[in-house]
Amino acid sequence: MCSLDRRPFIRIVSGDKMEIPFHKPYITEDEVFEVLDSLRSGWLTMGPKTVAFEEKFREYIGSRNAVSMNSCTAALHLALKAIGLGRGDEVLVPAITFTATAEVITYFNAKPVLVDVDDRTFNIDTSRIEEKITKNTRAIIPVHYAGQPCDMDEILAIARQNNLSVIEDAAHAVPALYKNQKVGTLGDITCFSFYATKSLTTGEGGMATTENDEWAERMKILRLHGISKDAWKRYTREGSWYYEVIEPGYKYNMTDIQAALGLAQLRKLDWMWQRRKEIAERYTNAFASSEEITTPSVKADRDSAWHLYVIKVDSRMLQIGRNRFIEELKNEGISTSVHFIPLYRHPYYKSALDGKPSEFPASERSYEQIISLPIYPSMTDEHVDQVVSSVRRVIRDYRRPVEKTRLDQHLISRLNRTVENEASC
Ligand SMILES: Cc1ncc(COP(=O)(O)O)c(C=O)c1O
Repeated sequence: MCSLDRRPFIRIVSGDKMEIPFHKPYITEDEVFEVLDSLRSGWLTMGPKTVAFEEKFREYIGSRNAVSMNSCTAALHLALKAIGLGRGDEVLVPAITFTATAEVITYFNAKPVLVDVDDRTFNIDTSRIEEKITKNTRAIIPVHYAGQPCDMDEILAIARQNNLSVIEDAAHAVPALYKNQKVGTLGDITCFSFYATKSLTTGEGGMATTENDEWAERMKILRLHGISKDAWKRYTREGSWYYEVIEPGYKYNMTDIQAALGLAQLRKLDWMWQRRKEIAERYTNAFASSEEITTPSVKADRDSAWHLYVIKVDSRMLQIGRNRFIEELKNEGISTSVHFIPLYRHPYYKSALDGKPSEFPASERSYEQIISLPIYPSMTDEHVDQVVSSVRRVIRDYRRPVEKTRLDQHLISRLNRTVENEASC
């Protein structure tokens, strides 16, 4: 069945004062049908639905290979295995990302090296990459922050010049376009997340796409204990009890129950993406006249997945900082989040890496200001408007009075401009 029923089970309760959670997955009858179909078939773990989901996802992205896993973290780990990362190697990652991006590098006794971000997109700042390359650098992991693709032409050019691999962390970027090309077909290996909050969810799950057949094959073997070939088929009619372990692998495979969710979600992905775009546009238009807020900046040659909608609040214009702003929204029933605490601020990375906050001025500035607002397809226009009015209320209540000197300067410069205009008439 493919009912494409667009009514989600989990609705946001409407009332006098609506509670707007930070995220709700978009689950309909279609997902329920697919999961029940798995349960009724008796095939629960990796099997026909996982293979079908991999194939449909591969087609959707337009990549040569797609290898499903139980998380994006697993996909990033096996991508680094596939390129042969080793002890003492270095991998460049943006300073603002989730720990998974860097954590997988430490699995190899290799070193994550942080690069500052661009403070408009929060993506890795390509002008700061080359200064971090050493003789030990093996790869770059750009993160398509919030769903906006990074500057891939520049990243790939630097990588080719320095013989580095590019493993994209596309946890936020399904689907997203860079120069009309889907993310998933650009770098060497791309890793997606289907975690519960992501724009396509399987509860937990991930996928690696690549044009390289050898890497895809290696990742397929490693995700299921290092068993030689099509390990999951050993319990099928065409399979055999005999198998060989060719290297120590991992238990990273996706299950058919997860893939069932993925199949149903993939069918409505374009519609869900469209709704995210509409919500983003509604926020951007609503905040256009608020000087205290900077709305997300998406470059003209790319299309964001809009996994996150991240605003910056200018605390110089307000009497409160970002944290209090979040508290105020919470008091109004609006849940928000912060993506992310820069890695160098966490106790582990602080002690394991040499980077000091002063090395990452754009990340520091951004971190103090960012708030992720709710954005997901089950939000109605009414919900979005409630978020907007709460944000506006906080601004109104805490706007810093314009200082007298600034006001005077402003009036004087306006007066001068009028005099100049009149003189030139
Ligand atoms: C940027 C980034 N990379 C990687 C991950 C890890 O994804 P997963 O939970 O599927 O392992 C996340 C998860 O939120 C993320 O935000």
